[in-house]
Amino acid sequence: MKQFDDYPLLAHNTFGMDVRARHFVEYGSVDELRAFLAAHRGERMFHIGAGSNLLFTGDFDGYVLHSGIHFREIQREDDAHIFMRVGAGVVWDDFCAAMCAANLGGTENLSYIPGEVGASAVQNIGAYGAEAADIIAQVETIETATGHSRTFDNAECGYGYRQSVFKGALKGQYIVTAVIFRLAKQPTLRLDYGNLRDTLAHIGHPTVNDVRQAVIGIRRQKLPEPSELGSAGSFFKNPVVPKAKADELLARYAGMPHYAVGDSKTKIPAAWFIEQCGWKGRTLGGAAVYEKQPLVLVNKNHATPADVQNLARQIAESIEERFGIAIEPEVNYI
Ligand code: EPU
Repeated sequence: MKQFDDYPLLAHNTFGMDVRARHFVEYGSVDELRAFLAAHRGERMFHIGAGSNLLFTGDFDGYVLHSGIHFREIQREDDAHIFMRVGAGVVWDDFCAAMCAANLGGTENLSYIPGEVGASAVQNIGAYGAEAADIIAQVETIETATGHSRTFDNAECGYGYRQSVFKGALKGQYIVTAVIFRLAKQPTLRLDYGNLRDTLAHIGHPTVNDVRQAVIGIRRQKLPEPSELGSAGSFFKNPVVPKAKADELLARYAGMPHYAVGDSKTKIPAAWFIEQCGWKGRTLGGAAVYEKQPLVLVNKNHATPADVQNLARQIAESIEERFGIAIEPEVNYI
């Protein structure tokens, strides 16, 4: 187990907030995690992955924990699927790359999302019409209070749009140590989101690896590279509103993009609201609204946590005022 005191978190959050943790601990096994929890029960702690979906609002006065559990193994298989068990500390896109190279279906639309495997099961990461929940069979965890193991089946994880029990009702109570994914031996490609199908039109029979390359290309065009410009990806969730509210807005803004969610609700891209309110490309202190995708807030020039929070608050207030819609951060404030 590695432990450091008064530790800089700059390299552990893609937003590039220059804050520190009183302690930073990286464990390499479930046993090490159990021993750490037994010795530090009741103390303040926060578990991070790659720090790609959070905003540190200041120094962290406690233990920041990080998983160093790295393995990937076939757990079992049936006629149609391979069940792959993967350590929580594995880099998400390394896993996607390996699955696509093996022509196993399920991760391709989720390629190039920054982060680690453990966090994928907590955040229910999603992109291009797919979500981690579509391929998660089981999630292995350790209960923080007792150190006991508990395996959650998919149905027990409470998955919804960017939602799970691990960030909802059971927040902070379980630490994910491994995830078991169900990958298809004969992949069915999902190409209906945005321009994915058009991007692949020149290929007769695209493979999962072709889809992966197309997704990487689209993401590179739209989203900032964390190594070049700090951000945490989409800053807000896309609001899901009652259909009647969406119809009322459509009567005023005929061009408003919208997607039905079941019969009674409608999802509207937060990027559209942000653009309509004139925020695209604007800066506030060191923080800015990304020019190519306004759902992304970026660290343009040594932004402080307060710069980012102020910008986010002002954006949300202006949308509420003009459209009567409350948008919520997708990024976790720590
Ligand atoms: N749009 C605008 N103006 C813009 C950009 C977009 O009005 O400048 C509208 C367009 O109508 C566009 C729509 O927003 O069709 C959707 O845009 P996009 O396809 O880029 O996706 P998004 O809804 O903004 C979501 C996820 C992304 C994910 C993409 C692709 C959330 C919060 N974000 O963004 O996830 O990559 O779809 O599936 O659901 C992340 O979570 O960090 C993330 C990047």
